[in-house]
Amino acid sequence: MTTHDTRPGSTGGEDTPGPLYGGPDEDYTPERLAGMSREDLDRLGARYDGVEILHVDPGPEPGSRLEKRAVRQVGLAFTLAGVFAFLFLVVYAGSGWFLPEWNWAEEGTTWSALFTPLLGLFMGLSLTMVGVGLVLFTKKLLPHETAVQDKHDGSHFDRVTTGATLVGGLHSTGLARRKLITRSLGFMGAAVGVMLLAPLGGLIKNPNTGNPLGRTSWAEGVRLLRDDGSPIRPGDQEPGSLETVFPEVPGGNLQSDAATMLIRLRPEQVLQDEPREGQADFSYGDYVAYSKICTHAGCPVSLYEQETGRILCPCHQSQFAVTQGAKPIFGPATRSLPQLPITVDDEGYFVARSDYIEAVGPTYWNRERI
Ligand code: FES
Repeated sequence: MTTHDTRPGSTGGEDTPGPLYGGPDEDYTPERLAGMSREDLDRLGARYDGVEILHVDPGPEPGSRLEKRAVRQVGLAFTLAGVFAFLFLVVYAGSGWFLPEWNWAEEGTTWSALFTPLLGLFMGLSLTMVGVGLVLFTKKLLPHETAVQDKHDGSHFDRVTTGATLVGGLHSTGLARRKLITRSLGFMGAAVGVMLLAPLGGLIKNPNTGNPLGRTSWAEGVRLLRDDGSPIRPGDQEPGSLETVFPEVPGGNLQSDAATMLIRLRPEQVLQDEPREGQADFSYGDYVAYSKICTHAGCPVSLYEQETGRILCPCHQSQFAVTQGAKPIFGPATRSLPQLPITVDDEGYFVARSDYIEAVGPTYWNRERI
């Protein structure tokens, strides 16, 4: 059988026999190479490339039902990828425009709860359909061959013939005549590209308003309550003891960012106490109150060593000195635990004098208050 196989890696067929291995045996000058067609260069390069073709599957016959069905499947996958990318953009860009404004809130609305999952869902579906489309295109429409090839020295001959092989590879994809695929590919590329770039807009416009990470429920006059809801008077705790307290607001004992340690210093610790600058009046008598959220990565710091006056974080062993404004003295934390200003109300119960004056929690949170 006579063959005229000109696809990449082909040995050329019986009408243009050549050695399976070996280099150029004629003088191919740049001018001569420039005068040859892409098919000739492709065939020539394969011939002299030392390519051994082990198996060839040319793919579906052009115009056949098999090819048309595969083209429809690939086109559908690429189109769906573009549609899902478009829906991502609708949710992302539409929030605050024709869709409700999205803001992070601890007890958010339905829309706040759905916003991020919807973005993830549409981006995930879009990228999945990109993958499905590429796999279908590769498996059902591209020609397949198995070949073994020697390594080359990068000569001009190699470069020209390799370039022709690459162009031949693009040619063999049939994209030029498969309009459904090229159109759906273009739609998908544009939509997915914008979908991937759009979130960068979040670096310019912060979707959070009011700096929610910089606020807690503590406020002037809000009582300090134990976990069981009971208020605390100054005489209730032994010197050297610690009580975890929460703000007297609905659901206050569920608000993890408001969890606070109320510590009664021992007499000798009161004498050593060196509060942070500007916070000397944040304590009340021998009581101090610090955030329970570690400033390293947000773990609850509830291990209090009263002998040494150190608060320990069990996660990465940061330690904070109670008599030095809870500044970190060991471990990875670099910022003091925020101190809650406290006093007592008319009935003698502990109350906050205000919210924390800095953000609680990990240092990488936005500390700027609005
Ligand atoms: S979270 Fe506390 S030390 Fe890392």
